[in-house]
Amino acid sequence: MQISRRNFLQTALGVGAASAFSFPLFDVPQALADEAKKDLKIERFTLKVGATRPFAAVHVSDTHVTFADEREVERKLKLAESRAKYFSRSEAFHNASVEYAKEKEALLLHTGDFIDFLSDKNLEYVKEAFDAFSPCFCSSGNHEFSHYLGEAREDEQYKMNSFERVQKYYPNDLKFCSFVYNGVNFVAFDDVYYYVDDDLIDRFQVEIDKGLPIVTLCHVPLYTPQLTKFMLEDQKEKVAWVLGAPDEVVDSYPEGRRESQRSNETTTKFLEWLKEQKLVKALLAGHLHVNHVGPFSETAMQYVVGGNFKGDLFEFSFE
Ligand SMILES: [Fe+2]
Ligand SMILES: [Fe+2]
Repeated sequence: MQISRRNFLQTALGVGAASAFSFPLFDVPQALADEAKKDLKIERFTLKVGATRPFAAVHVSDTHVTFADEREVERKLKLAESRAKYFSRSEAFHNASVEYAKEKEALLLHTGDFIDFLSDKNLEYVKEAFDAFSPCFCSSGNHEFSHYLGEAREDEQYKMNSFERVQKYYPNDLKFCSFVYNGVNFVAFDDVYYYVDDDLIDRFQVEIDKGLPIVTLCHVPLYTPQLTKFMLEDQKEKVAWVLGAPDEVVDSYPEGRRESQRSNETTTKFLEWLKEQKLVKALLAGHLHVNHVGPFSETAMQYVVGGNFKGDLFEFSFE
């Protein structure tokens, strides 16, 4: 349990009990923290991948924190106010997730949209959250680079305009990164705008060559027929929100979404290539705000965890 400066003061002054876990700048009132912990919706999975030592991992995604303070312009403050209505429990649920991960001595994995939009305070929250927890590993989401949510076309140029600013607050490379933990190679890559980088297969091949079991992290889930059916038919979404959907699927999307979610040659090739990689044992993703688990390849299941902002959490036992 971590006692923050503010909690210490609260306790010392008898103002209230210290919350079970909080960050120095971002306390959650005790009642909300307790409620969030109780409301966590945990799904548990065992992954026998050949770890050198059994370990636990907590996977969350899409926290969507909505902080903004006096450093921001009026437009941003208004955005924060309106978005906070949808994401009122983000901080409480994130703290509850972190506390749960600490209890389980788990590796903490986050697959993006930690913030809802760019603001200094949102980025400071992320840094403080990751600094307070070790080990942790993450991939970025589409919201990590979003200024006003839909005010401009979100393409590589848009992302790169704020990439360096954002990267400084996150614990690992948001473009591509590998983290070996107990003999399992966690590989995070950027697919936030429905395409992957041209050099992804080359960079990934270096990880394959290490010969270790691989678990990938990315934000946008990878196309599978089953997941697409789930999104379009069961969830009644107009688009599937997946990476690498075939043209015939994308052609059924409303016109305004087709271009942004259409695959390109590199991305389609990457998915085909990845399916053949027997060392890839699991894919972790988010973005959909709803849980879904289904097969990706002969060796790998894809685990899409819903919204951390509403308490969704996956717990993995790696063996
Ligand atoms: Fe999200
Ligand atoms: Fe997203």
